[in-house]
Amino acid sequence: MTTRVLTGITTSGTPHLGNYVGAVRPAVAASRAADTESFYFLADLHSLIKAQDPARTQRSTLEIAATWLACGLEPDKVWFYRQSDVPEITELTWFLTCVAGKGILNRAHAYKAAVDKNVAEGEDPDAGVSAGLFMYPVLMAADILIFNAHQVPVGRDQIQHIEMARDFGQRFNHVYGKAYFTLPEALIDDNVATLPGLDGRKMSKSYHNTIPLFAPREELKKLVFSILTDSRGPGEPKDTEGSALFQLYQAFGSTEETRAFAQKFADGISWGDAKQQLFERIDAEIAPLREKYEALMARPADIEAILRDGARRLRERYATPLLAELRHAVGLRDLSQQPVVEAKATASKAALPAFKQYRDTDGRFYFKLTDAEGNVLVQSNGFDSPKDAGRLIGVLKQAEQADAMETPEIVLQVPAGDVLAALAALRAAEA
Ligand code: TRP
Repeated sequence: MTTRVLTGITTSGTPHLGNYVGAVRPAVAASRAADTESFYFLADLHSLIKAQDPARTQRSTLEIAATWLACGLEPDKVWFYRQSDVPEITELTWFLTCVAGKGILNRAHAYKAAVDKNVAEGEDPDAGVSAGLFMYPVLMAADILIFNAHQVPVGRDQIQHIEMARDFGQRFNHVYGKAYFTLPEALIDDNVATLPGLDGRKMSKSYHNTIPLFAPREELKKLVFSILTDSRGPGEPKDTEGSALFQLYQAFGSTEETRAFAQKFADGISWGDAKQQLFERIDAEIAPLREKYEALMARPADIEAILRDGARRLRERYATPLLAELRHAVGLRDLSQQPVVEAKATASKAALPAFKQYRDTDGRFYFKLTDAEGNVLVQSNGFDSPKDAGRLIGVLKQAEQADAMETPEIVLQVPAGDVLAALAALRAAEA
């Protein structure tokens, strides 16, 4: 079976080493695995939640597209597209919004953090919180569910979002009675799930502690040398535990290299030498990618064409047919098409007349016709065999005229016209 792996990156800011190690690199590697269908997209709609500077949004989208291509993405082997080029995603967002529990969204980490901060500052809980921030997980669920992704490589901070996607998908499946959506799993690479930044906290745009992925060599060197370390001097053994410098090395070095680097820590390598080695190790991996990146950035029209082509093919193949199915599922339908099959299913359960056959204490066979509420419309006299009773039921079922009611074997409890109407309803439902 083909595993569908999907990853998205918000198009805000400039890609940094944390994005590379935590998302781009593992996803590109996964795309080369056998039996994998990979989806990579630029989450530009998500970016609007925070970034409301149009020029920066455009710039960042270009940089991130170029980054993924430079890191080895092959747009003819994987799906590579921009979220906003697939309008079916926003349409699905609404369908999911209508089944998503508001209480679940209240518990989303990003939203809760904003509320907690407001409360701590004595503000209105929702001060400055956009509905976009609140709805973030629903849009993300649509990103994932629309392509029925099995696996979503994400950082630990995103696990909750994947769980929400499962929840919304499951609710939709349940409400509309069919497994429309595959329930996705978060894929966490525990070795490199989060990368520390210059100050030792998680590398993140919001902490301003990032190392831009394609910083020129000299800038990369300067940044690596600015990584926070403790005050141990040359010759003093150093802890690898809790060392941002060591963790960064680990994200790039092989197991062998990392073990050797740890030994140098124990042997008292100076921080200056350790930083030089880290810099060289990162640059060895990044330099060839940087070259490709710069070539790509010089050809934005080509990148635009690649993205559009990806979205066009993807819509045709998956998104458009799926949304057509989902629109029908929720009841956004062509009004000229009558839902024959479903009317039968629901009507036969609830509001339909019914024939009931039974044997009474006198040993004879009887039937009656009841309406939807169980009121008796017709009561038969006794028959010698159930077959005889069944034969008359068959005749009555076809009856369209009042004279069919004029038989001594049955007693009408209501006017013949009412019985005929009930029989007609029964026939319509069974058609
Ligand atoms: N929320 C993700 C992030 O901040 C970006 C994203 C949006 C995403 N939609 C997605 C990731 C769908 C994976 C799947 O990194």
